[in-house]
Amino acid sequence: MKIKIGGTKPDNFVDRWPGEFEIFSHFEMALGIPHALFLITTLKENGKPNVCFQSWSSFYGDSGGYYVMTPLLMKSHTYHNILRDKEFCINFINASYFEACYQTIFNNKNETDEFTAGGFTREPASQIAVPRIKEAFMSLECRFRSDSDLSGKSIQSLVIGEVVSAAVEEEYINGAEKKYGPEGFMYYGYALKDFASGDEGERKVASLNVLRKG
Ligand SMILES: Cc1cc2nc3c(=O)[nH]c(=O)nc-3n(C[C@H](O)[C@H](O)[C@H](O)COP(=O)(O)O)c2cc1C
Repeated sequence: MKIKIGGTKPDNFVDRWPGEFEIFSHFEMALGIPHALFLITTLKENGKPNVCFQSWSSFYGDSGGYYVMTPLLMKSHTYHNILRDKEFCINFINASYFEACYQTIFNNKNETDEFTAGGFTREPASQIAVPRIKEAFMSLECRFRSDSDLSGKSIQSLVIGEVVSAAVEEEYINGAEKKYGPEGFMYYGYALKDFASGDEGERKVASLNVLRKG
């Protein structure tokens, strides 16, 4: 039997922090679709680096270009930095850095160097002024292309950027072992403990496990 979930938030899904279901759709918690986690680096207006822990994105393109599609809170610094400077960097980092990534959420002031907050090392990018994260095994330097308010409520906007250059650690460039193992892409999944009662979800951090090759 399949459980039907409609477009209206079930009454048992209640905010655990103010505005949770303003920022998130109830589908997010009800479905728990996993997404890769990464850090977006930008520059603040004062030149200090900003680091944003991010997920819910996709990466694809065609012969005309390769694109990052990422929804950003319209009130976030990252969104404003990207609209102002028209560039940003995507940095994939492994799960051992999860706590360090979280520090960039808690230390988020204008005057904060968020590389220092997370204990990350700056690495110059090749095509943009925004620094890459040295600890990342893969970084994508991006130029802003467009943005579109997802729901029309000025909460989340889908930002599209074109990848102009990428940098990949040597041990990760060949084969799947590193990329799709515990030292590779970090994933995030939000699974409810009990859908019927809307009981508190658990944030799960995961890596991939290759089941089949060839
Ligand atoms: C797994 C994960 C957990 C997050 N948890 C929080 C959180 O607890 N609080 C929060 O305000 N943002 C959280 N975010 C969202 C962004 O990281 C946050 O909007 C970001 O720090 C905004 O930074 P900025 O204003 O410098 O752009 C989370 C993102 C991810 C991917």
